[in-house]
Amino acid sequence: MNYQAILEEIEREILPLFGEGKVADYIPALANVNPNQFSISLQMFDGTSFGVGEVNKKFSIQSISKVFTFTLALNYYGKELYKRVGHEPSGNPFNSLVQLEYENGIPRNPFINAGAIVTADSLVSIYKDNTFNQILEFIRTVANDDTINFDEEIFHSELEHGFRNYALINMIKSFGNIYNQIDDVIETYFKQCSIMMSPAQLARSVLFLANHGVNPLTNETILTESKAKRINSLMLTCGHYDASGDFAYKVGLPGKSGVGGGIVAIVPKKMAICVYSPRLNSQGNSLIGTKALELFTTKTGLSIF
Ligand code: DON
Repeated sequence: MNYQAILEEIEREILPLFGEGKVADYIPALANVNPNQFSISLQMFDGTSFGVGEVNKKFSIQSISKVFTFTLALNYYGKELYKRVGHEPSGNPFNSLVQLEYENGIPRNPFINAGAIVTADSLVSIYKDNTFNQILEFIRTVANDDTINFDEEIFHSELEHGFRNYALINMIKSFGNIYNQIDDVIETYFKQCSIMMSPAQLARSVLFLANHGVNPLTNETILTESKAKRINSLMLTCGHYDASGDFAYKVGLPGKSGVGGGIVAIVPKKMAICVYSPRLNSQGNSLIGTKALELFTTKTGLSIF
């Protein structure tokens, strides 16, 4: 299959969509990007890659970071973790508070904000003051790239404006499902969201999920086959919040989005993909990114269904 030609075709076909959707601005520093960007990177198991647009330009990974923190926590705690965070779709927006109250502070899954905050808390219990460094090191390992770092301005912007997340963490704490100091946990969570990566780095860094937990580029085992399966199934059912059904229906791949405009997706046993375009749809997922992935699986037949 001529992947490069297919990506170039997609790049032409999404052109009429530029202008639709809106860049996230509830974290003010995220609004400072050029809204009309589009790039897509494909990373194959043998190290070859294909791409269009600026595949080495970094952006804020935001909720895509939840895949990495959940991987770390699941590796450490195993199924014990599910006592504190579930594995069912929420059917609600990523930052919703409502369900959390009547479900006693146990978030539905690790990919909504509430679940990622509990996951961050579980990591603070292990790594204490060194938690963010451990998260960053883990991401550098899976991406095989020591240059990855976070963005101070985006981190501080969310510290100052992340009112919803402060509400969420306080509510969860009131139910006894946050074990550490609120400030330590929320800072870890905001920092992980402000990590900057390029589409090429992100595609490489989720390759282990396409290959039963083993990074095919380095042969390093990141997690067991069974845990890799669980993370992929969560990406499919919960990776796009209340648009997860729509994403599975149209794209048909496990994927995870972030309000920075990125989406990672994996084609089991074949490749990992990252698409970037910062204008979002009403559920907070990249509008053109979703469309581009839909075109990709339609043109290649490479959905899991
Ligand atoms: O906590 C927040 O609201 C952001 N740091 C991350 C949210 C996010 O990326 C949702 N994704 N589509």
